[in-house]
Amino acid sequence: MKDIIVIASGKGGTGKSTVSVGLGTALTAQGNRVLLIDCDSGMRGLDIMLGITQNLVFDIADAVSGSCTVENTVYPCPDKKGLFLMPAPLNAYDEVAPQILGQIVQGVGSIFDYVIIDSPAGVGSGFEAAIYPAKRALVVVNTEPTSIRGGQTVASKLRNCGISDIRLVVNRFNRTTFKKMALYEDMDEIIDITALQLIGIVPEDYSLAAAIQSGKSGDSACPAMKALCNIADRIQGKLVPLMIR
Ligand SMILES: Nc1ncnc2c1ncn2[C@@H]1O[C@H](COP(=O)(O)OP(=O)(O)OP(=O)(O)O)[C@@H](O)[C@H]1O
Ligand SMILES: [Mg+2]
Repeated sequence: MKDIIVIASGKGGTGKSTVSVGLGTALTAQGNRVLLIDCDSGMRGLDIMLGITQNLVFDIADAVSGSCTVENTVYPCPDKKGLFLMPAPLNAYDEVAPQILGQIVQGVGSIFDYVIIDSPAGVGSGFEAAIYPAKRALVVVNTEPTSIRGGQTVASKLRNCGISDIRLVVNRFNRTTFKKMALYEDMDEIIDITALQLIGIVPEDYSLAAAIQSGKSGDSACPAMKALCNIADRIQGKLVPLMIR
């Protein structure tokens, strides 16, 4: 296995799940086998975003309770060869403990190149489980102070839990809105405030958002998908220049 990456944010709705799916799709298109783990117990949504809701029978909690094997909870995504999903429990009280998730990832992870864990928002018990197996983290923020403070909080929690490789994803970037709101001078200011190394800026792009929300593959030529492919390249150690101005 090459890496286990958790996608986190302090504030809800910054685009963690969209980035998880887009990144998983991009890594898969580049020849990797990728497992996406939905850790948002009680609020799961990756099954919809990956178009597998109809076939979904078991989730992580069923494997933990012994109702099925761990392998039974791994679903291949139609249209995206090499991309697989382990769905979150439907009920929040079935949330999986951190050490148990760690064992699950250790068990199935070896047959994948990348495991991407989609964390719930905040720094509660779901977040603690999501980060437990991870080797590195992407913190997803939008260009607003509340979102950025959430990113700082999450990054500090990640560091306290021993994850030092933390990169920043600025999602839903809209140059016009950014300038009109004038909350920040430029992107450098956001990078300075978070004290995180930027791995990519994903533009606001409703064509990708609509495709993912309807369980379809995004157009690989759309701006957000291009940005996510660049992030996938950087994750794999390729040198792709960042365009921050
Ligand atoms: N780059 C983007 N351009 C336009 N819309 C986006 C983009 N990224 C995400 N969205 C939209 O923002 C909303 C929140 O996205 P998403 O569900 O991925 O966030 P989240 O961080 O996973 O939320 P939660 O904290 O509830 O789990 C959705 O309506 C999604 O379609
Ligand atoms: Mg989500």
